[in-house]
Amino acid sequence: MLKAARNDIDLWLVNYQQIQDPALLEQYAQFLSPEEVKRHERFAFTRDKQQFLVTRALIRWVLSQYLGLDDPGSLEFGASRNGKPELLIETTLQFNLTHTRGLIALAVMQVEPVGIDVEYLSRQADIVNLAERYFARKEAEELLALPVEQWNERFYDLWTLKEAYLKAGGTGLRTPLSEFCFSFSGETLDISFSDLLGGDSTAWKFWQLDIDKAFRLSLAVNDRKGHDYRLRVKKGVPVAGFSDISPAIIRTSIR
Ligand SMILES: CC(C)(COP(=O)(O)OP(=O)(O)OC[C@H]1O[C@@H](n2cnc3c(N)ncnc32)[C@H](O)[C@@H]1OP(=O)(O)O)[C@@H](O)C(=O)NCCC(=O)NCCS
Repeated sequence: MLKAARNDIDLWLVNYQQIQDPALLEQYAQFLSPEEVKRHERFAFTRDKQQFLVTRALIRWVLSQYLGLDDPGSLEFGASRNGKPELLIETTLQFNLTHTRGLIALAVMQVEPVGIDVEYLSRQADIVNLAERYFARKEAEELLALPVEQWNERFYDLWTLKEAYLKAGGTGLRTPLSEFCFSFSGETLDISFSDLLGGDSTAWKFWQLDIDKAFRLSLAVNDRKGHDYRLRVKKGVPVAGFSDISPAIIRTSIR
């Protein structure tokens, strides 16, 4: 059984395209619920099929270990009022998932709500239009004041932080992105809320990790007490095994 203390933030990273062993993929398929089997069959593209199968295997295999369950297929999932996936059993275990081209990331905590987002940094986006339209005015102004070659990275810094915050379950996914604002200073970052939204910025903790130059990963934890956090990052293949890695922290709100 996997043990995690209340201050542990566990991240599980998987390069799903590298998993080709037919026997392993067949084992993953055995974990799926009947409804997941139907969804798996409906994907037209092999790449999407693979991402779905490995995602389901990761979440079921990892969470069943924290819960001390032998059969990952026995887990049942529902959703919170905000649509956040959650376990349909009595547990304090919290998790959130993200996937982008080539990578799946799962964050797990014992008690505190957690949100995670990963984006592929080379993904094309209409940065000026999106930043001016959706980000807080200060965020957009600061982004556009940077040298053009830094726009992409700042855009995905903001994008992933905003998604991670929303996915942690703060105010729901329909919260306008302009109502909360991130500011950056060297290796630290802060969130502030508009008067309309309100909210206690000290109850939110953020990290951005350098897991791979191709991706930006942001993590949000809603924790009023503020623990002495320990990030435990693992990279590997569900069922086959994971190794500990120590990615650098690009920025954090922890002082
Ligand atoms: C639903 C949403 C959170 C998915 O995000 P995404 O970047 O498309 O995809 P990700 O890979 O990061 O996350 C998908 C996973 O989030 C989880 N998820 C779905 N709904 C969620 C919710 N309401 N809250 C938290 N997590 C959720 C699921 O596990 C999902 O994976 P699964 O379907 O394989 O189980 C997102 O599309 C959304 O609606 N965001 C609204 C906010 C917005 O406009 N963001 C723009 C950022 S600037």
